[in-house]
Amino acid sequence: MKNILLTGCAGFIGSNFVPYFLEKYPEYNLINLDLLTYAGNLENLKEVDGNPRYKFIKGDICNRELVEFIFNEYDIQGVVHFAAESHVDNSIKNPGVFVQTNVNGTFTLIDVAYKYWMDAPFKYKKRFLETATASMKLSSDGGSHCKEQSYSEEQDTSSHCEEHSDAAILIPRFHHISTDEVYGTLGENGLFTELTPYAPNSPYSASKAGSDMIVRAYHETYGMNTVITNCSNNYGPKQHDEKLIPTIIRNALVGNPIPIYGDGKNIRDWLYVLDHCKGIDLVYHTGKTGEVYNIGGRNERTNLQIVDRICAILDEKVPLDCRTSFAVTNKSHSKKQSDLSRRCEEQSDTSRHCEEQSDTAISISSYKELITFVPDRAGHDRRYAIDATKLENELLWRADENFESGIVKTIEWYLNKYKKQL
Ligand SMILES: NC(=O)c1ccc[n+]([C@@H]2O[C@H](COP(=O)([O-])OP(=O)(O)OC[C@H]3O[C@@H](n4cnc5c(N)ncnc54)[C@H](O)[C@@H]3O)[C@@H](O)[C@H]2O)c1
Repeated sequence: MKNILLTGCAGFIGSNFVPYFLEKYPEYNLINLDLLTYAGNLENLKEVDGNPRYKFIKGDICNRELVEFIFNEYDIQGVVHFAAESHVDNSIKNPGVFVQTNVNGTFTLIDVAYKYWMDAPFKYKKRFLETATASMKLSSDGGSHCKEQSYSEEQDTSSHCEEHSDAAILIPRFHHISTDEVYGTLGENGLFTELTPYAPNSPYSASKAGSDMIVRAYHETYGMNTVITNCSNNYGPKQHDEKLIPTIIRNALVGNPIPIYGDGKNIRDWLYVLDHCKGIDLVYHTGKTGEVYNIGGRNERTNLQIVDRICAILDEKVPLDCRTSFAVTNKSHSKKQSDLSRRCEEQSDTSRHCEEQSDTAISISSYKELITFVPDRAGHDRRYAIDATKLENELLWRADENFESGIVKTIEWYLNKYKKQL
């Protein structure tokens, strides 16, 4: 059994990753270190509660003593690092915590991993080398294509495993999860490739760029077995309420304005969260050491298109004139917005009608009428779009969901969640 340290898995992406990874790899024990900030929620991990191969530890990735304890106690042999402050708006209000968690936290983690896995100067500890060499010998008999000398005692800073193969993680690997936002913003054309120069525009993206550079340096300087993935916008179950898609759905259901920044024409490249998890799995296990891989779904949409599509699906799934389970009571938002305070009364199994509750109530015929444009925020990039060719060609990654299939699954998940809450 191998013990893998995961960080930040009470959050959105990590909590989708844990059940997927646990089920796929019965030979792994997963240790999840998460501080449970406002963004972390153990409810997200209820399905793995009690699994003997999963352990949760509440704590800060910046706490060196704790991180050292975890490496020693559990003999950590791999890291997948999700933990971060991740909300751009919050980074504009309070950048310090982003630098602390994203930059200092990543530094603490990788530095502890380096000290635990490697001896100075720049060599993997004997026991890791022995395991890796023995396993590579075994698999080379069966056709391994990773050069054996790559992790030999003679290894120096420039001799890394040149091939991508299962052998790439026979010595411990540090996988850093990052974002396409480090590349800055695009004009109308072009895509971010792994060679696009970094040009972060918000404190969030700057702090992620800083953490990427630290991970890169530990590979270049010490020959650590690292990989970095830079992914586009994720959507799917378990995302925090503050993010765009949950906000659209929740506000629609209670009849609140659906806020859209600026003119709504900012473009994001959307990827269903499980497709991201599968990309991480592939890169963790078969990516080339020291490399960066972009992950993206080739699903560019303006924010306005996203809201329009979600509203159209909601119009079908939760028609405005028969929302008995989503009875709306909000009367506080602006006059411009429709006040949806009305009561749906079921008349029969097949027909329902709605009664206005107040004289001021204005009925609407589509959730789209709740869309409200609000002033754009600073540091808000115009367009992101990922070129995932390297991941597709080298590691044969493909997204399973297109935007249409993914957004329907996502909406169904949030309808179920909000039905219980609202
Ligand atoms: N959400 C996206 O669309 C997206 C896209 C690309 C990359 N990413 C990256 O993926 C990773 C996960 O993103 P997410 O959307 O799941 O984030 P999230 O905000 O939903 O979750 C972050 C998790 O990290 C934990 N955390 C925060 N500070 C911590 C600390 N100091 N110590 C330990 N745990 C801490 C939080 O409690 C939370 O559980 C981040 O690194 C993010 O930059 C996210």
